[in-house]
This record gives sequence, C-alpha cells and structure tokens, in this order.
Amino acid sequence: MLVDRTFELNKNIKIKNAILLAPMEGITDLPFRLLCKELGADIVYTEFVASEALIRDVEKSFNKMLIDKKERPVAIQIFGSNPKVMAEAAKIAEEEGADIVDINYGCWVKKVVNNNAGAALMKNPELMAEITNECSASVKIPVTIKTRLGWDKKSINIFEIAKLQEKAGAKAITVHCRTRDMKITGKADWTFIPKIKKEISIPLVLNGDISSPQVALEAIKTEGADAIMIGRAAVGNPFIFSEAKYLFENGEEMPPATIQKRIDVCIKHLENCIEYKGQQGLYEFRKHYSGYLRGMFGATNVRQKLVVSEEINDIKKILSDYYDYLVENDRLSINNHSEIPKVQCRR
Ligand SMILES: Cc1cc2nc3c(=O)[nH]c(=O)nc-3n(C[C@H](O)[C@H](O)[C@H](O)COP(=O)(O)O)c2cc1C
Repeated sequence: MLVDRTFELNKNIKIKNAILLAPMEGITDLPFRLLCKELGADIVYTEFVASEALIRDVEKSFNKMLIDKKERPVAIQIFGSNPKVMAEAAKIAEEEGADIVDINYGCWVKKVVNNNAGAALMKNPELMAEITNECSASVKIPVTIKTRLGWDKKSINIFEIAKLQEKAGAKAITVHCRTRDMKITGKADWTFIPKIKKEISIPLVLNGDISSPQVALEAIKTEGADAIMIGRAAVGNPFIFSEAKYLFENGEEMPPATIQKRIDVCIKHLENCIEYKGQQGLYEFRKHYSGYLRGMFGATNVRQKLVVSEEINDIKKILSDYYDYLVENDRLSINNHSEIPKVQCRR
C-alpha cells in the first residue's frame, strides 16, 4: 500500500484512501453515479439541488435526489443562501435517503452567485457558518461542505472559513483549490491543503485537476489530504477510480481500459440512462459520447453520427461498426488519455 489515509465521518462511513466522485451539475445523475460506484468511487455526490426548489416541492429537483441503495454512501448536495430554507432542504435530503448532506459554497456561475449562494457566500463567512449550523442542527446525518480558496486571489479566506465551519458543525470540508474568479481555468493550487489542515481537526478533501491515477496518487499523498475528489477526469473515464485504487494498493499502474471496454461501458451507461429517464435519457446522454471516445482515432465523425441517433439499436450498431473499423485499421490505441477533458458547466 503506497498510502494510508482514513476518511471518517461517522461509524458507518470510514474509508481507507477514499476517492470521491465530485458533484457535477448535468453529469452526476443516478446512472453516472452508479457506474462510478461500480468502478471504485467510494462516495458519490448528486448534482447540486436548489434549496428553494426543494421546499417548493419542484419535481425536477426531487428527481436529482433519486437514490439507489447500490450507490451508498451517497451525498446530496444543496445550495442556497437562506439558513432556514437550507435547514429545511437538508431535512428533505435526509428524508430522501442521503447518507451525507453536502453544502455548496463553491459554485462560480452567475445565476447562483447573483442570488448570494455558492461561492458568493465566501464573502460572508458568518452567514456561511449560520447556514451550516442550521443545517447540522436539522439532520442526524453528517453535514459536509464544498468550497474554494476564496473569492479571488486578493481575498483568500479559506483558513477563516475552515475554522468557522468546523465550529458550525461541518463534519468535513472539500476544497476545490481555486478561487471563484478562476472558475475552472488556471491550475488548482494544492499547496493550500497542508496549511488549511493545520487550522482544523475535521477531515479535509482535496479537489481540483486530478487527471489520472498517477496524479491521484500525488494528490492523496499531499500532506493534510484525508481523501481526494475527482470531477471532470471521470467523465467518459469512470475507470479512473479503480485504476487509481489499484495504483495505491499495488504501486504499479493497471493497464488502462481498452477501447472495447470503453465502448461496452458507454453502452451500459446509456442503457441505464434510458432505464431511468426513458427517451430523455438517450438525449441527455449525448454529452457523454465525446468523453467515452476521447483520444480514439476518427472519433469526431462517429460522435457526429451518435448525437443525432434516436434509437439505442442504431447507436449500438454505429459503435460496433466503429470498433470493427479500428480493429481493421490497427488503431486500437488511445491518445491523450490522461488529460482533463473539457466539460461544459451549463449554468
Ligand atoms: C459540468 C460541471 C458541473 C459542476 N457542478 C457542480 C455542482 O453541482 N456542485 C459543485 O460543488 N461543484 C460542481 N462542479 C465543480 C466540480 O465539483 C469540481 O469542483 C471541479 O470540476 C474541479 O474538480 P476536477 O478538476 O476534478 O474537475 C462542476 C464542474 C463541472 C465541470
């Protein structure tokens, strides 16, 4: 074993060298979470859910909280700016079966920050603490938070925030090691992790730019990191969890998933989306093709055909013909396998 970290939230959630699937709006729906879980993710996070929508009983938001027992432990992530509403939403998430309620204090998108939620709350650490405090008091399950280093480089206040959050009852803190103004650009700065850890005694989760099993190993070895969280690199490549685990345990890399395996998993993921969401699942799945085909020879043309297909059997045929073509042309290798993919944030 190359590393020996323990991530502990309560007596039910105690995990060695934990790798968490990051919450991603439009991506981490139930079918994707199940897949990542099956392929080695230890804790999976839902897309963020608006607290205001939850208390108004908006069906779409409830759908984001559908949980399958096979994916446990699962965190439902909520966002909002009103402590009472957030506490009510946390309670609803608990009733819906969450093992963890995670609060989003990191989202950069205008629609969220203009409503004083997400990363905007970093400008008001006292209100942030009040929200966490109210949420913690309203549920029995652990309340955790996900945040950034600060609003911008001139106002890095993660140290103050981390201390206040621990006092307010947060049971773990995930830090996406960027400031809000960086959005998802530039480089995540992990050097903050040991410094933040010095300020708190609750578990700290490192997030940002983990692109491959090797990088995951570096991340989990970072002083002060009790666990790591992977987002974009899992899109189209959910194998990263088991590959990283294998590296942690054996000290050598597992051979990367073959093209055949990638195509099989892509189809399985699509089938699950259709099972849960019907034809809408097939449409929503279109954003995943480029991820699964990333680095494969001639993938652009194939993707163009896939994104206009309406029938699963047509999709299977396109993928099977593509595989035969790659075999015939001796093109079964993959390029740029370990680069972080471009994943659009829709909001
Ligand atoms: C498409 C997309 C959607 C995201 N949605 C959320 C979200 O709902 N909640 C959240 O806390 N972070 C969200 N994030 C941020 C990720 O959780 C993560 O912090 C970020 O992508 C950095 O990690 P990575 O480098 O491993 O991708 C999103 C990121 C992307 C790319």
